[in-house]
Amino acid sequence: MEKLKDTFGRSFPYIRLSITDVCNFKCGYCLPNGYFKPNNHPGFLNLNEVENLINALSDLGVSKIRVTGGEPTVRKDFFDIIKLIKTKNNIKKLVITTNGYKLNKLAEPLINTRVDGINISIDTLNREKFKQITGHDRLPEILKGIKILLDKGFENIKLNAVLLKGINDNKREFDSWANFINHNNINFRYIELMQTGDNLKYFKQYHQSAKIFKNYLDENGWKNIDRTRDDGPALNYVNQKLKGKFGVIAPYSKDFCKSCNRLRITAKGELRLCLFGNTGTNLRKYLQNPKQKEELINLILTQLKFKKESHYLELGNTGITPHLASIGG
Ligand code: 5AD
Ligand code: SF4
Repeated sequence: MEKLKDTFGRSFPYIRLSITDVCNFKCGYCLPNGYFKPNNHPGFLNLNEVENLINALSDLGVSKIRVTGGEPTVRKDFFDIIKLIKTKNNIKKLVITTNGYKLNKLAEPLINTRVDGINISIDTLNREKFKQITGHDRLPEILKGIKILLDKGFENIKLNAVLLKGINDNKREFDSWANFINHNNINFRYIELMQTGDNLKYFKQYHQSAKIFKNYLDENGWKNIDRTRDDGPALNYVNQKLKGKFGVIAPYSKDFCKSCNRLRITAKGELRLCLFGNTGTNLRKYLQNPKQKEELINLILTQLKFKKESHYLELGNTGITPHLASIGG
């Protein structure tokens, strides 16, 4: 039974759980100078805390967990965490988001752990541009990892790219993705760049409206298909002549928040009702002992009443989110 419902009639069967803020990439829009560990860092949720959290969420009717970062696979106990979540029967889908580094090595263990879906962030298929955006020349190992997953019959792969003006917003880039998804029968989505607390200058320079990609889709025979409940805010498109699916995630579009179906929990155990909310609720003190489960459940239910209708990003509100590595995208 889904118990997580807000005052606008939305329900939340889906939790994005960040397990670390650390990332080894330096994406210009997120961590341009790389990750810095703050002083007196409390450490990220440990395995016991994660287990207590998942048990409560599972009682609240959550059926899908996405493990995110930073880059979740940098945690030494990454596989312990996902294996643990896989043991919970109510969690029907365990999916992860990764930047794909080392995916050539991790593809097989991920399949063996029975991960239900993998989202890979990959902004371009052009090696030089990839290096320019992320600060790392790691495109080949990511592509190799994707190939291994596909060769082994792993189906639920989604690729995400942030749309960046003057970098990957042209027809040549769009065509290269159309070709890639056609050959691999895969789902690729562009995300419109979002302003965060730290990236205003970058945002002003590189923000491009998702409209430019929507126009490309319209002009090249792609048709919008109905959202499924699982899609969340993505709009998906198919093409009679080509395999694969394109998607658009346009956070600045009207009604974007209407289909919101997710809540977020940070790596330090804060509940975030929205990517760009102004508050985080510290759940960590209720994650110390399995006996605290009822209290934890009540706290989450109470907090959900405060979830707002929209992110108000269009008003330049970035809430308390300095960059998305701090909240897991
Ligand atoms: N705007 C849009 N997408 C972003 N991501 C990180 N920062 C931003 C931003 N400011 C993306 C990453 C990844 C996902 C988790 O979020 O590229 O695909
Ligand atoms: Fe790392 Fe993702 Fe941020 Fe890039 S966008 S720096 S891969 S957390």
